[in-house]
Amino acid sequence: MRTKLFLAFICIIFLAVLSNVVFEKLIIGDFDDFVRGTEEDQIYWIMASVEGSYKENNWDMTLLSEAVHWGVMLGFDAFVEDSDGNRVVSSSDVISTMNPNMIDRMSSLLDLTSDSGEYTWYPLYVKGTEIGKLYIRLIERSGIIPLKEEIFRKRGRDFLIISFLIAGGSALIMSILFTIFLSNPLRRLNISARKIASGDFSVQEPLTHNHMRDEIDELTENFNFMADALRREDALRKHLTSNIAHELRTPLTIIKGNLEAIEDGVMSDTGKVMDNVKSEIDRITSLVEGIEDVTRAEASFFKKGLTEEIDLKEFVGSIVEGMSEMIQEKGLYVKTEGPSVSVETFPEKLHIILKNLLSNSYKFTDRGGLDINWGVVSENNKRGFWLSVKDTGTGMNSDEISKIFNRFYKGPASGGKGLGLAIVKELVEVMDGTIEVSSELGQGTKFRIRFER
Ligand SMILES: Nc1ncnc2c1ncn2[C@@H]1O[C@H](COP(=O)(O)OP(=O)(O)OP(=O)(O)O)[C@@H](O)[C@H]1O
Ligand SMILES: [Mg+2]
Repeated sequence: MRTKLFLAFICIIFLAVLSNVVFEKLIIGDFDDFVRGTEEDQIYWIMASVEGSYKENNWDMTLLSEAVHWGVMLGFDAFVEDSDGNRVVSSSDVISTMNPNMIDRMSSLLDLTSDSGEYTWYPLYVKGTEIGKLYIRLIERSGIIPLKEEIFRKRGRDFLIISFLIAGGSALIMSILFTIFLSNPLRRLNISARKIASGDFSVQEPLTHNHMRDEIDELTENFNFMADALRREDALRKHLTSNIAHELRTPLTIIKGNLEAIEDGVMSDTGKVMDNVKSEIDRITSLVEGIEDVTRAEASFFKKGLTEEIDLKEFVGSIVEGMSEMIQEKGLYVKTEGPSVSVETFPEKLHIILKNLLSNSYKFTDRGGLDINWGVVSENNKRGFWLSVKDTGTGMNSDEISKIFNRFYKGPASGGKGLGLAIVKELVEVMDGTIEVSSELGQGTKFRIRFER
């Protein structure tokens, strides 16, 4: 990942350099063409002036000197030859006639004494007849006052270098930021995943942003959920193994004791022994079924699943309806009350929760009945709602309340496996909700679950 990011940014920098080079070639190239064009124009005017000084087969030396003089002023060193190849006049002739003040001034711009560069010659014509040649070359700059074109070129190059530095620098900073914000969380997740693979399920990754959630946050959240699920599963496995071992030992000891009693001739009533053994085997069977129930329920814990939109009234109504006959048969009433609202939830999990709460209330209530209520937590949050199951049953004291969510805890009148509420609690937590219980011995019990996100 880091290498790929690094390569990607190297490519960006390379493209920035390339675009700069192309830009420079185009702009500076165009500018050079422009300057060359201007020079050619100037040479053309000098040629025209030189040709203009040729009158009636003779050079007008004053006009010719003036033309060459203008040439010098424009930065050209030139000389004129007639058609026989004799030199008629040159820039140095003209310069030697100038007054020293003017020569001084010109020297600050041009190196009048330089003698470098090739002359280019141009044929001179008057009325179609060649009258001679103009040899011309650029006089070097003296360097005291740089040529405006040079300033432009330098400024252009400076500008390109600065723009390259800005582009390259930004790419570099971006690459560092990307590495920090993209690659670091992934690297941390990778390390945590390795820990999990080696059996350490205690890892939880911090979420990077709370307000601007992105895919990395989503990945981290799912990763945390997965780690949490693995941790629960691991704890459950250990817990279950020890609990099962403990729960199995009791009936097995009793079975063994009964069989030994027959063997030793201590007990002669085989019918009673058979009954004892059978009832212990029933306990074992019920325990095994319990394990199956847990496994089934756990399977749904660990799948986060997708939320669905349900109408809370319809949902609760259909579950209560499925149980209302047996509740009423026991002489109990069952009342439901709440708005018809659409909420976003995990219906499968909510179903298990509600069913367990209802079956407990049914089981531990002998008179009166059950009240089921619900409502929304806030109008604009579809995930926020509450649900309560209240009964007028046996109730519990505070000591019992503190144990009811433990696996395999059951009261004396239970007849169950003591797993229902442990499952309920885990499901509520997986759904990011809370569960509260209030109960009074002999008065009744109320369970209330609440989801806010
Ligand atoms: N509504 C209630 N009224 C009174 N006691 C309750 C109520 N709900 C739960 N309890 C107490 O909490 C204990 C644990 O409940 P839980 O649902 O976990 O197990 P269970 O109902 O005994 O067995 P299982 O649900 O596995 O069939 C119960 O045995 C009972 O003593
Ligand atoms: Mg129960």
